[in-house]
Amino acid sequence: MEEKLRTIKEEAHTEITQSQSETTLREIEIKYLGRNGILTSILRNVKDLKPEDKPIVGKLGNEIKIYIANLIEEQSKKLQNKKFAEQEKEWIDISAYTLEPKITGHLNPLTSLQYELEDIFKNMGFHVWEGPYLEKEEYNFTALNIPQDHPARDMQDTFWIDKNHVLRTHTSPVQIRAMQSLKPPFRVIVPGRVFRYEATDASHENTFYQLEGLMIDKNISISHLIYTMKTFLSAILHKDIEIRLRPGYFPFVEPGLELEISCIFCDKKGCSICKHGGFIELMGCGLVHPDVLKYVNIDPEVFSGFAFGMGLERLVMLKHRINDIRYFLGGDLRFVTQF
Ligand code: PHE
Repeated sequence: MEEKLRTIKEEAHTEITQSQSETTLREIEIKYLGRNGILTSILRNVKDLKPEDKPIVGKLGNEIKIYIANLIEEQSKKLQNKKFAEQEKEWIDISAYTLEPKITGHLNPLTSLQYELEDIFKNMGFHVWEGPYLEKEEYNFTALNIPQDHPARDMQDTFWIDKNHVLRTHTSPVQIRAMQSLKPPFRVIVPGRVFRYEATDASHENTFYQLEGLMIDKNISISHLIYTMKTFLSAILHKDIEIRLRPGYFPFVEPGLELEISCIFCDKKGCSICKHGGFIELMGCGLVHPDVLKYVNIDPEVFSGFAFGMGLERLVMLKHRINDIRYFLGGDLRFVTQF
């Protein structure tokens, strides 16, 4: 019996060390150690042996069992390593002469702000509208209560394309487009590029972004405007914002207002950013002028509305403490990659 066990051990050794695949190893394992395996059967029958043989066969059998199990494990590792070594030979070292990949593409801070604003306003029931950059003079000025030869036209230096067309100087012409297409009541916002023919400096660009807003319904008052402004500004600046309104002149709203927000840097205590006034001027707004409503055939006796228009750069500059508007279009990677 002892002799038989030794032969089994030798045979198993040969089979295992010569096996070249995981599959054969598993077969060998089953052959010797499986439920009906050679060794398992011998060990199972130890109880039927002569009393003097029992301990010897039992002990030796178990030793061989462990030996085979270990040997299979070892051979399996050897096969794995061999496989890796072969794979490695095929490898091309793609890291050899390349720079580390870097993700540099991302949204411009203006775009992210625009998306954030769109989400806030959508949640308040506003639709997002767009209009053309090349705009009719009529929509950019006349319909907005800025008649020809009126000095108000000079408030916005204009790129004239021809007698009847301009590069839009503000997003307000889209108010007219919206009012002509939609039936009141409605709410829209209009984000987009605008253009002004002016010399650039730290706070002026010839191309910049605005966000226009317009709500038309029955009985709209300044309270609706104040509530909406306070809500969206607090959401976008992640802070409870106080607003202050002062008279401002925009021909298409009456009353026209300049909106100021409590300084986000000093909480009204006064700092260099708010020039120690505690408030920062942010945008123009007001109640839609009855003449503008009449122009698009909305009865000012029935409907009223508020409108506002804000420069997006101004808001991003405040949020990120950027001190020169020219960075936005300057194309300097040191600026762009910060966001
Ligand atoms: N369109 C104005 C501007 O560009 C801003 C504004 C919009 C003012 C709507 C009042 C109402 O300066």
